[in-house]
Amino acid sequence: MSFYITTPIYYVNAQPHLGHAYTTIACDVMARHMRQRGEDVFFLTGTDEHGEPVADAAHALGLEPKELADRNAERFKALMPRLSASNDFFIRTSDAEHEAKVQEILQRVYNNGHVYKGLYEGWYCPKCADFKVENEIAEGNRCPIHEIPLERQQEENWFFRLSTFQEPLERLYAERPDFVMPSHHFNEARSFISQGLQDVSLSRAHLKWGVQVPWDPSHVFYVWFDALLNYYTALTYARPGEDLVPRFWPATYHVIGKDILKFHTVYWPAMLMAAGLPVPEHVFVHGFLLGADGRKMSKSLGNVLDPFEVMEALGTDALRFYLMRDVPFGGDGAVGMQAVRSRYDTELANEYGNLASRTIAMIRRYRDGVIPTAGTDPELTAEFDGLAGEVARLLDRAEPTQALEAIWLRVRRLNRYVEERAPWQLAKDPSQSNALDQTLASLAEGVRVISITLHPYIPASVEKLLAAIGAPELDYAGAGFAEHGSGASVDALEPLFPKPV
Ligand code: MSP
Repeated sequence: MSFYITTPIYYVNAQPHLGHAYTTIACDVMARHMRQRGEDVFFLTGTDEHGEPVADAAHALGLEPKELADRNAERFKALMPRLSASNDFFIRTSDAEHEAKVQEILQRVYNNGHVYKGLYEGWYCPKCADFKVENEIAEGNRCPIHEIPLERQQEENWFFRLSTFQEPLERLYAERPDFVMPSHHFNEARSFISQGLQDVSLSRAHLKWGVQVPWDPSHVFYVWFDALLNYYTALTYARPGEDLVPRFWPATYHVIGKDILKFHTVYWPAMLMAAGLPVPEHVFVHGFLLGADGRKMSKSLGNVLDPFEVMEALGTDALRFYLMRDVPFGGDGAVGMQAVRSRYDTELANEYGNLASRTIAMIRRYRDGVIPTAGTDPELTAEFDGLAGEVARLLDRAEPTQALEAIWLRVRRLNRYVEERAPWQLAKDPSQSNALDQTLASLAEGVRVISITLHPYIPASVEKLLAAIGAPELDYAGAGFAEHGSGASVDALEPLFPKPV
């Protein structure tokens, strides 16, 4: 099965921040998990470089838009390995291949009769690069997202006949209740559509920084259509000489923040229909990370959680774990450094790290470093039986937080098992030798199984641990709880989550 997952492409007018890291990590968890299951995976991320916000930011710095884009695109590109993101390609909308494909597809939309020239007059937010419709205008003619005054703008534009897609979109929503997930966002998108759709601007006349409209070179395409098309165009040139479209289109998941719902759930499927292309399977909408005080993160409020600070202090895995664990994916949630430290100490270090080091230390002390081949504990086997399937089912539905909770229940179960069985007592009594073998075999097996399912979340730590217990295979087929210990040799393991200095 093919699995194509995308992040939004990030604006290069800003520096990478926690919101970008969040979406990227969530997609990476799903991509890694699907690869473990042997699926044919393509994971795309990249940068959105055209449009007014970027041009304005560049000019404010005395730069050409392309100079600012080059500089900041590098920062986003460098962020990916820093986050341990396993993206298969990084698209930049200033790539010549992307630009040519955008022109080709939108020319087709034009040829299909979905475009006309008209006069646009309306309220525009330069930060969203979005013309607001009536129910999107906050009090005092302000942008509901940026809270800045909207600008009255009038210009001659090419328009996309979005209004004629009302019925096809309603049909799409009627037929595919999981087109947008979770369901409250499905309802939000559907009600936006049923309130009536107005045609939207497809081009801008006074902007230079964008993809030229092929049938009217004095215009560039409205940045959102150029940007949305990245999900498709990337497949046409990510692998030179190979067209990945037949293999990966339509996308399985577009993962987005709730701020860009309208573009992905209304404009995008309509544009694809207009071009005669299949629409994506799912758009998953996640919530917003808020400051520890529950307010929108902002430098002036001093409530910003800096992903680089977290990674420097506690490591990349700690950031990944925290973001997937602390805020239920799909909802909003407050985040802060104190909460990161607390999850790190109590869960990563004390529960998982400690379980691993105790297990290895006991096998070394009592069994010369060899995992006994004894039968594993049937009760524990039963409790671990459904784990791999449960995690897979949850991640199929883009529920990484719930999947992590299912895994964590087993981490806690194994810690209780250590206390219940007290191997240090069994070791004192030679008649309990078989019981000790069974206990150590079960612990090693439990740690292995948990670690395989946990790999997408904290890949570097899990790889160290699995190497230390002589079981480096990550394949999901090996995520079942074996009936016997492996007989492998274990190695000493440095603390996976050391106390921060
Ligand atoms: N360039 C557009 C997207 C085009 S996609 C065809 C854009 N870029 S952005 O740089 O502003 O990034 C937006 C994405 O970053 C959001 O959709 C979300 O995924 C993520 N986040 C930005 N701030 C966020 C939070 N505070 N919390 C969670 N995620 C947020 O919009």
